[in-house]
Amino acid sequence: MKILITGAGGQIGHDLIGALVAAGHHVVSTDLAPRPPSHAHAGGDWQRLDVTDAAAVQHMFTDERPELVYHLAAILSASGEANPRLAYDVNQTGTWNVLEAARRAKVKRLMFTSSIAVFGPPPSGPLPDPCPDDVALHPGTMYGATKVSGELLCSYYRKRYDIDCRGVRFPGLISAAMPGGGSSDYALFMYVDAVRKGSYEAFARADTRIPLMYMPDGVRALLELAFAEREKLSRTIYNIAAFSPRADEIATSVRRAIPDAQFTYVPDPVRQGILDSWPKAIDDAAARRDWSWKPSYTLDAMTDDLVPRVRRMLDLGAVLSH
Ligand SMILES: NC(=O)c1ccc[n+]([C@@H]2O[C@H](COP(=O)([O-])OP(=O)(O)OC[C@H]3O[C@@H](n4cnc5c(N)ncnc54)[C@H](O)[C@@H]3O)[C@@H](O)[C@H]2O)c1
Repeated sequence: MKILITGAGGQIGHDLIGALVAAGHHVVSTDLAPRPPSHAHAGGDWQRLDVTDAAAVQHMFTDERPELVYHLAAILSASGEANPRLAYDVNQTGTWNVLEAARRAKVKRLMFTSSIAVFGPPPSGPLPDPCPDDVALHPGTMYGATKVSGELLCSYYRKRYDIDCRGVRFPGLISAAMPGGGSSDYALFMYVDAVRKGSYEAFARADTRIPLMYMPDGVRALLELAFAEREKLSRTIYNIAAFSPRADEIATSVRRAIPDAQFTYVPDPVRQGILDSWPKAIDDAAARRDWSWKPSYTLDAMTDDLVPRVRRMLDLGAVLSH
């Protein structure tokens, strides 16, 4: 299949491009900047594309005529609170531009990457735990608001124009790659700083509990949903879940591999506020039923696989800031 990815230069693109190329697809990766050195291994073509530029998106889709689009380009939650206008432009207008270009270029299928950030505590009380697909959505961030809008636009384009839009609400994703300014980044830095410094001061409380997922499961979900039989799908957007550890349970797991690692917890008010507004755990029964979704990594299985990868990444000289 000919597949175009927007925002391919980020954390998910890093692993998704390679998985699609390995499966034999013709992949056109696009992002604001040229291919980053960290993505050099992945293969496929690379083009510059700013999703806020409607004409450029239209030209690209008309020239390339992809059969499937993975729309990843976005400004994530913490970066979005630092610059809500940019988050609105990229996530809201960018998604509109991508859907419009897909409609005009007769793209058959589009995968949207939503987030647990669509959830927030409703005025009537706390979110259910675990949180099902269909609850009233009260996101507390610009990122979450634009993801709710993106989900609704996907449903609209599916119904009105018969573009086969599909998507997942990802938990915080963890991989040995540069995270993109999400509020769940503390979880990855517990691994990175344990390896490189032996200690980490987390910007979240020790009892912070949010849904997380190891990237290989996240990428597999993106492939499995994209190629699932349409008749089996009862929804446009699906909750998916893996594990929901407290921050101090992640610390215990990291110590399996790095026994002396020290962790302290100094909550950052903005990012802690975002984390506290998210569900503690997710109910993904619909994804399990409709397209047989099942995560394969537990927290400890992720730790065992991730720590050597983080070591290799740091040996290669990756610069991670936080
Ligand atoms: N990583 C996670 O934990 C997570 C969780 C939930 C949902 N998601 C969603 O998955 C998608 C990909 O996430 P990621 O972790 O790879 O994010 P990331 O921040 O690592 O990558 C996003 C990419 O989008 C690009 N981008 C920004 N503005 C752009 C523009 N105007 N035009 C084109 N590209 C632009 C950036 O250059 C970056 O390479 C996003 O839609 C995100 O909301 C990610």
